[in-house]
Amino acid sequence: MKNYSRLIVLTGLFVAGTIGFLVSSSPSSQAASAPEKEISTEPVEPDMHEFMEYVFQPTFKQLKPAMATEPTDNQGWKTIKANSLVLAEGGNLLLIRQPKEGATDWSKHSDQVRGFGGKLYRAAKSKDFKMARKHYESMIRNCNACHEQFAGGEHILKP
Ligand code: HEC
Repeated sequence: MKNYSRLIVLTGLFVAGTIGFLVSSSPSSQAASAPEKEISTEPVEPDMHEFMEYVFQPTFKQLKPAMATEPTDNQGWKTIKANSLVLAEGGNLLLIRQPKEGATDWSKHSDQVRGFGGKLYRAAKSKDFKMARKHYESMIRNCNACHEQFAGGEHILKP
């Protein structure tokens, strides 16, 4: 009798194990447990010239006239907020484009552009033109610092 109940238990375990195996080896659960490729930031356009020409240049071209005089309407502030935020976040995108040589300096310039770009963005949010103008000029100084060092002194921008 003791052996008989033991057999039942063992049979039960075997059945449960078999079902478990079938479930775990079904195609859908296999797909879910397949090792996932790590997703990380990577440049879409690794060429720096193209990146500056299509991301930074058009943004700067819109920001510059908007920063010339204090905006008189909401649209003017919106132009400043939109373009300063793209340039500030662009600082992050520069950080994933470090050159093999001078990566530390490159990162410092990128960090400064991100920092002052962010301050400009926040000043524009509170419609403080005096502060906005100050941070804008500091940002451009740091754009130029990178151009001095990494673009052979070309593309020196006037704020
Ligand atoms: C970390 C370095 C770095 C920073 C910071 C940087 N740039 Fe540049 N930029 C470059 C390099 C390098 C080039 C030259 C690319 C080439 O032609 O090979 C360039 C070129 C340019 C050009 C010329 C593009 C063309 O089509 O000829 C413009 C405009 C420009 N940058 C705008 C900006 C603005 C605006 C900022 C700041 C908000 C900025 N850059 C910040 C590295 C930087």
